[in-house]
Amino acid sequence: MVDILVVGATGYTGHLITRYFAVHRERDSFKLGIAARSKAKLDRLVSELNLSNIQPFTVDVTNDGSIKALFDEARPRVVLSTVGPYIKWGKPLARACAHNGVHYVDITGESPFVKDLIIELDFLATKTKSILIPSCGLDSVPSDAIAYLAAQTLRSALKTMHEYSLENVGIAESHTRIAVKGGMSGGTASSVLNMVETLSRKDLMYSQTPDYLSPVKVRSPQRLKFVSSLPIVRPKRYGGIFFLIPYNISVVQRTRGLFTLYADKFDKDGDGEDLPAYAEDYSYTELWAASNRFTAFFLSLSIAMGGACLLLFPPLRWLARKILPEPGQGPSDEALEKGSLNMHNISISTPLSTTGKPIVIESHLHGRGDPSYTLTAVMASEVALSLLTPQEKLPLLARKGGVLTTMTALGPILLKRLSASGRFEMESSVRDDGTIE
Ligand SMILES: NC(=O)c1ccc[n+]([C@@H]2O[C@H](COP(=O)([O-])OP(=O)(O)OC[C@H]3O[C@@H](n4cnc5c(N)ncnc54)[C@H](OP(=O)(O)O)[C@@H]3O)[C@@H](O)[C@H]2O)c1
Repeated sequence: MVDILVVGATGYTGHLITRYFAVHRERDSFKLGIAARSKAKLDRLVSELNLSNIQPFTVDVTNDGSIKALFDEARPRVVLSTVGPYIKWGKPLARACAHNGVHYVDITGESPFVKDLIIELDFLATKTKSILIPSCGLDSVPSDAIAYLAAQTLRSALKTMHEYSLENVGIAESHTRIAVKGGMSGGTASSVLNMVETLSRKDLMYSQTPDYLSPVKVRSPQRLKFVSSLPIVRPKRYGGIFFLIPYNISVVQRTRGLFTLYADKFDKDGDGEDLPAYAEDYSYTELWAASNRFTAFFLSLSIAMGGACLLLFPPLRWLARKILPEPGQGPSDEALEKGSLNMHNISISTPLSTTGKPIVIESHLHGRGDPSYTLTAVMASEVALSLLTPQEKLPLLARKGGVLTTMTALGPILLKRLSASGRFEMESSVRDDGTIE
C-alpha cells in the first residue's frame, strides 16, 4: 500500500513534485508511489532521482481497466494527479478515487473540469468519505489562503471584542494585488489552448463568473477593471487584469459558499473550530501588479486582446502551439529559483454597530521560487501530506468528504505546512482605520 501516489510523475511538474517528496523532511513517515504511462520514462526518473523505496507503476488514465489495476496494485490513500489537460484526461482517475474512498489532489486551473467534478462526484464522495481537492497549485491555493487568513484574523479579533456579535460582522470586501515572477511549461500552454478550443464561447464566458463553483449565490460581485488599485493603501498600488483572476475568484467564492452552507454545523460538530468571518455579501477581487496606471492599462489591454484573438482566430492557436513549450518542457532549474510570488491583501469588514466603522485587515503572502512550478510542487505535495492526517483530526468539512477547496478542507493544517516548507511566509493583522503606508 502506498500513502501518496503521484500520477503523471514523468511530466514537467510531476518531476518537480517527485523530487520535492524524495527529499522531504518527513520522508520516512510516508510511502511514496509514482505512476505514468511510459515504463521507460519511469525507469529513467527512478535512476535520475535515485529513488530507492519508491515503487513505479504504469497506467493509462484514459483506460478504466488500467486505473483499476493501478488501484489494486498500489492501494493508494492519496492520489496526486498532474496529468493534464484535465478536461481531456482528468475525470476517470478522479472518479475512481471517489468510488474507492481515496483522497484526490490535482493542479488544474480548468474551471469547467472542476464544475464537472462537483456535479458528478461531490455527493458520491461524501458517501465514501473521499476528499477531492482540485486546483492545489498557483491556481488557486495562494488566493484561497490569503482570503481565508484575513477572514480568520477578523474572527480572532472579534473574539476579543466581546461587545460584537460574531454572526453579524464579517469580511465584506477583499482585494488581493498579485506580483508573479515566473515561466510557463508545455502542459500549462496545452491546457489553456485546449480549453479555448473545446468549450463554446458561451460556456467559456459562464466559467469566468464569480459564483461558477459556489454552492451559494455571490450577491455583490465586483467588476474587474482595466486599471484598479488596492483600497486604503497609499501611495496607490496599481494593477490590471490577468487570465488567472476569474478562476481564483470562483475558488475563493466556493470556499466562502461552503462555509456559509455548513455554518450551523460549526456550533454542533465543530469541537470549537472557528467559522472564518466571511460576510453574507462577501466580495473578492484581484489585480495583477503593475508599476503605475499606464502599465496597468496596457497589461489589461494586451490580456483582453490576446484572449480575444486566441478565441477568434484558430491559426493563432496553431501558431501559439508552435511557439510555446511542448508538453514535458518548462523553465530550467536556475530560472525556477529566480521566480517569486508576492501578494498583498486588504480586507474590509461590515461596519461595527457601535462606531459605524469597519475593521481593516492587511495580509501578505510571499513565496520563494517560480510560482507556477516550484511553488505549485510545494503546495500540491503539502496538500497531499495534509490528507494523511488521521480523519478525526481533520477540519469539520474534510471529515464530511466531497469536492472541497484547500481552505475548506485543510485551512490551518495546510497554512502551517506551507510556512514550515521554508518557501512561504504569511502575515495578517488588524490595521487602525485610515491610510496604510
Ligand atoms: N495550477 C497551476 O498552477 C499549474 C502549474 C503547473 C501545471 N499545471 C497543470 O498541470 C498539468 C501538467 O502540466 P505539465 O507541464 O507538468 O505537463 P506535462 O509535462 O505534459 O506532463 C503530463 C504528464 O501526464 C502524463 N500522461 C499524459 N497522458 C497520460 C495518460 N493517458 N496516462 C497516464 N499518464 C499520462 C505524461 O506522461 P508522458 O511523460 O508519458 O507524456 C506526463 O507524465 C497541466 O494541465 C497544467 O496546466 C497547473
